Parts: sequence; C-alpha cells; structure tokens
Amino acid sequence: MIKLDAMENPFQIPDSLKEAWNERLSSVDINRYPDADMADLRAKIAHHAGVNADQILLGNGSDEIIQMIIMAIDPGTCVVPAPTFVMYDLISRWFKRPVATVPLARDFNLNANQFLQVCGREKAEIAFLACPNNPTGNLWPEETIARIANGFDGLLVIDEAYGPFSERTHTHLIASNVLVLRTFSKLGWAGLRLGYVIGESDTIAHLNKVRMPYNINALTQAAASFLLDHFDLFEMQAAEIKTERERMSTALETFNGVKTYPSQANFILIQVPDANAIFDQLKVRGILIKNMHAAGGLLSNCLRITIGSTDENDAVLAAMDEIINGAPA
Ligand SMILES: Cc1ncc(COP(=O)(O)O)c(C=O)c1O
Repeated sequence: MIKLDAMENPFQIPDSLKEAWNERLSSVDINRYPDADMADLRAKIAHHAGVNADQILLGNGSDEIIQMIIMAIDPGTCVVPAPTFVMYDLISRWFKRPVATVPLARDFNLNANQFLQVCGREKAEIAFLACPNNPTGNLWPEETIARIANGFDGLLVIDEAYGPFSERTHTHLIASNVLVLRTFSKLGWAGLRLGYVIGESDTIAHLNKVRMPYNINALTQAAASFLLDHFDLFEMQAAEIKTERERMSTALETFNGVKTYPSQANFILIQVPDANAIFDQLKVRGILIKNMHAAGGLLSNCLRITIGSTDENDAVLAAMDEIINGAPA
C-alpha cells in the first residue's frame, strides 16, 4: 500500500547517515535504565526551540504529553473545537473529565468569543487548540489564538504538531497557563515516539510530577540526539512536502466535484460527492488515505490525504483521474 493515512513523512534516513546512526545506536547500553532526567536531550531540544531546558518536558509522543496534562490538571471540563484531533476528547474521557465542544464554522474557522463563552459557562480547566488543526488542515488567525490565550483562566494547550509545515509558531503566547505542544512525528521520526511541551518552568515542573521516570527509552534518546545534529535535513524535507502540498492542492481542485480546503499541514482535506466510494477505489488501487465521512457533520464526504513523496502523490492523482474521469490505468 501507498500509506497516506497518518501524516507520516515519506522520506527515510539517507544512506549517507546510516553508518554513523548505526554506530551511535549500537553504543547505547540497553542493560542500563535510560537517563530519567534526559538532561542532555532536553538541553538540546531547548536550544533547538530557543528556550531554557527547564521549560521543556519530553513525552513518548505528544499523545503521552496530552495524557500527562489531563492527569495533572484539577478535575474540570476540557474544551475543544469540533472537529479536531480526537485524542483530546478520548483521553479526557478515560480520566472521567467532561468534554465540551465548540463547533467550527462551515469553512472551519473558529470563533474566539464563542470558544471563551463555552470555557466560561463550563468553568473549564483545560482547552486544546491544534494549530494547524487536524483533520481540517487550517490554521486559525493569530488574533483568534491570542484572544483565547489572553481570555482563558484555565490551562490552554496550543498543539503545534503540524507547526513545521505552517507559517507561524505560538511560543510568544506562553504564560503560566499557556503551553505549546510539539512532536517530531510529522517531521520524520514517528517511529521514535518523541514529543515535547514548552511552558513556564513552574508549569513544566508541575507536569513533571505525573511523568513516568523512564518514559523516553535509551534508544530514542540516542537517536533523537543524533538526528538533532542533522536537523537541516528534516527542515529541507518539510520544505519539499510544503511544495508538494501546493502542487497537490492545485491538482486535486481541478477534479470535477472535488473541493479542497486550504492546508498549512502535511495533509489536505478534500470533500467529494461520495467519500466511501473514492476511499474504497483508492484502496483497490493500493492507496490508503483516511476516510473522515463516518465522523459526520462538517466532515461528511471528506477525505484526508497525507502528502507523500512526489511519486506517491502522482499515484494519487493518477488514481483520482481514473476514478473520477474514467481515465485508463
Ligand atoms: C494535532 C495532533 N497532535 C498530536 C498528535 C500526536 O502525535 P504523536 O503522539 O505522534 O507525537 C497528532 C497525531 O496525529 C495530531 O494530529
């Protein structure tokens, strides 16, 4: 299958790096517990993010950090836009935390007043804003995010999982009750499971109390430290994915009946006349994307396509041409 369902980076570690990479990994003493404090790696990531090491907490993917945040904060409602990344809702419910949703507009825009009203009405303790949002791909205006950050009394988590593909970051909004969440997954390290959250040092120290001591294994720590020394490579790949995203968006828009939504992420959401049929026919042709139709509402007949390599993207366009225009294989 051409796998375009989970926002993974299509590129592998180049052969030129593999020898040094193998050497680094084989030098790890896996008979020993990993460094529980992860001092070196945190310092390196902090440097990369332009903050102090005590402002960073690492997690086994940002999913684990979402879980830590939901565990650490006082009981009370979690407010999220709808639709958004499902784990905020799922993990809140695992911990018996009520969830209130604020529906996005038809164009997936978010109304900051409405969001703050719901937060006030519910006396919310936590809110999550994915910037850019998944599965819609759009990035809400900076004023919207800033208004919510300034007007909300609870803990606001600005999730920048797709930040590497978008036009801005939100670290300037960090405050005692505002965190910025990031992951290396979408940049090409999904298999390593490494995310981090940036906040004020007191907030980070509070979250650190619910972190399992060895949540980042020794191989991930060594791998991430090595890869951070070659970060320009991943930035170049992200730039290539952004170029491909624009090409795909323009090409998909030309198909009859296909509506593409603007994206600042490494995927594109499209609406088609019959999402189930197109999803199935792509699958028959060996292409796996994400069918959002079952979510209903604004996502009815929507499909989410991760941006792959040029060849993979060409395969999607050729398959869509066959399915929609009946072009020969
Ligand atoms: C908005 C958002 N946040 C967080 C994640 C989780 O990423 P990971 O746990 O791989 O770091 C995802 C994954 O799709 C996502 O879409």
